[in-house]
Amino acid sequence: MSFEVHLDGPDDLVVQVYRQLREAILDGRLRPGERLPPTRELARATEVSRNTVATAYERLVAEGFVTARVGSGTYVEAGGGLRPASVTPGGSLRPRPIWASETGPAPPVPRYDLRVGTPDADLFPLAAWRRLVGRETRLTTLIEGRRAGPAGNPALRAAVARRLGTARSVRATAADVLVTSGAQQAFDLIGRVLLAPGDVVAVEDPGYPQVRALFQTQGARVVGVPVDSRGLIVDALPADARLVYTTPSHQFPTGVTMALARRRELLAWAGRHDAAIVEDDYDSEFRFANRPLEPLHSLDAAGRVVYVGSFSKTMLPALRLGFLIAPAGLRPALLRAREVTVQHSDPGTEAALAAFLDEGLFARHLRTVTRVYGERRALLLGALRGELSRWLVPVPSTAGLHLTAHLRPEVRTGAATVVGRAARAGVAVQTLAHFAMGPPDRDGLVIGFGSVATDRLPVALRLLSGCFDAG
Ligand SMILES: Cc1ncc(COP(=O)(O)O)c(C=O)c1O
Repeated sequence: MSFEVHLDGPDDLVVQVYRQLREAILDGRLRPGERLPPTRELARATEVSRNTVATAYERLVAEGFVTARVGSGTYVEAGGGLRPASVTPGGSLRPRPIWASETGPAPPVPRYDLRVGTPDADLFPLAAWRRLVGRETRLTTLIEGRRAGPAGNPALRAAVARRLGTARSVRATAADVLVTSGAQQAFDLIGRVLLAPGDVVAVEDPGYPQVRALFQTQGARVVGVPVDSRGLIVDALPADARLVYTTPSHQFPTGVTMALARRRELLAWAGRHDAAIVEDDYDSEFRFANRPLEPLHSLDAAGRVVYVGSFSKTMLPALRLGFLIAPAGLRPALLRAREVTVQHSDPGTEAALAAFLDEGLFARHLRTVTRVYGERRALLLGALRGELSRWLVPVPSTAGLHLTAHLRPEVRTGAATVVGRAARAGVAVQTLAHFAMGPPDRDGLVIGFGSVATDRLPVALRLLSGCFDAG
C-alpha cells in the first residue's frame, strides 16, 4: 500500500516517520493486517534514507504496533484503530441553531422491536432482489440511468404509475412520476420549491417527527393541527398555512382514516387559502379491512395535491426509494431541485425495482407480506382485546403496520413508565407523546407489529403487559 509521510516538523526524521505511522495505526487509517510500504519505497517517496525508515519501523515493532515477517514485509498488528474514528479538530465553527441537536448513535437492537416504521427485513425477497440487481447493474444501465436525469428511471416511473392506477386509483403517467430517495427526499424537494423562510407549514399533531424536523430546518414555521377520529381537523388549520402535510389513508401515528367529507373540506380549504397539500400515502398498501378511500390526489381537480409514496415499508427502508406525483406547474422546479441536490439515485437499484414491479414480483411479495402482517396484526389486536385491555383501548384503524392504543383514564402507570420498563425487558415500544408537539391530550402507546416474527410476538406482548401495574 502507499502511504504519504510529510516531513515538516522540528523533530528528527525518524521521529516524524514513526509518529505519522503510529497515528495512522491508532486512528484506523492503517488497518490490522495491512502491510506497510517496503522501507525502500517509503524512503524514496519521502526522500529520506532507507535507514531512517527502517529505524522508525523498528520502533513500531518494539512497541507492538507492527510485526516484521522475514521475507514478507511489515504488517499492522491486530488491535490498531484504537482511537475513535474522528480525528479532525473540533474547531470554532458552529451550525445555525436549528441544526444544533445531534443525531445520536443508533440505539442497541432490542430483543423485540415494537417501534413504528420497521418492516420485517427477514421477509425481504433477498434472493430475487440480488438476482435483479446483478442483472440490471450493467454499464449501459448506469450510463443510461444518469442520462435519464433527475426524474429517474423511465421504466420505474411507468411501473409506479401503472401500480398507482390499479391499486390506488391515482391517475398518473410515467411523465407525472418523479423518483426520489425515499419519501423524505420528496418532502425535502417539495419544501425547497414551495417554501420561503418563515412560511407556515401545517402538520398533523400527533404526527411524523421526521417531516416536522425537515420543514423546520428549511426555515418554515411548523404549526401542529389536531386530529380526531375523522382525521386532520380542517377547521383548526392556520389561515396562513402555505403547505399542509397530511397522512389521510392511515394517520400517522393514530391510524385513523380521514373521512371523505374531511378530504373534500381540506381540498376546498386549500383552494380558498391558496395552499398546497402534501399527501403522504406511506403505508396504504397494507389494508386489512374495507375498501380504501380514494386518495386526496384523485379528488383534487384543482392541482393542489402533491402525492408522495415510498417503498420503505413494502420493500426495505435501506433501499431509499420513493416517489412523488406533483401538479404539472411544480414539476420543472422539483426536477431542478433534485438536480441541484442529489442529481439522481443509483440507476442499478432503480432498474432492479422497475423489473421487480414489471415482472409481477412486487405484487406477489406484497400478497405474501400482507398475509404475514395480517397474522401479526390479529395477534396484537387479540392482546389488546385480551390481557392488555385492562390498560389500553386501541384506536380503530384498518391499515398500516402499527396500532395506537390509548391508556384507559383510570390507569395509573404512565405510558413513559411503561416504555421504560419495556425497554429493560428487551421490548422497544413508543409513547404516543413521542409523536406529539406538546403534551398530548391523551396518553397512549404506538405499537408496531411489523418486525417481530409471528412466533415471537406473543412473548413480546406478554412482556409488555407485564410492564403495567397490576391494580
Ligand atoms: C409517516 C411516514 N411517512 C413516510 C415514511 C417513509 O419514509 P422514507 O420513504 O423516507 O423511508 C415513513 C416511514 O417510516 C413514515 O412513517
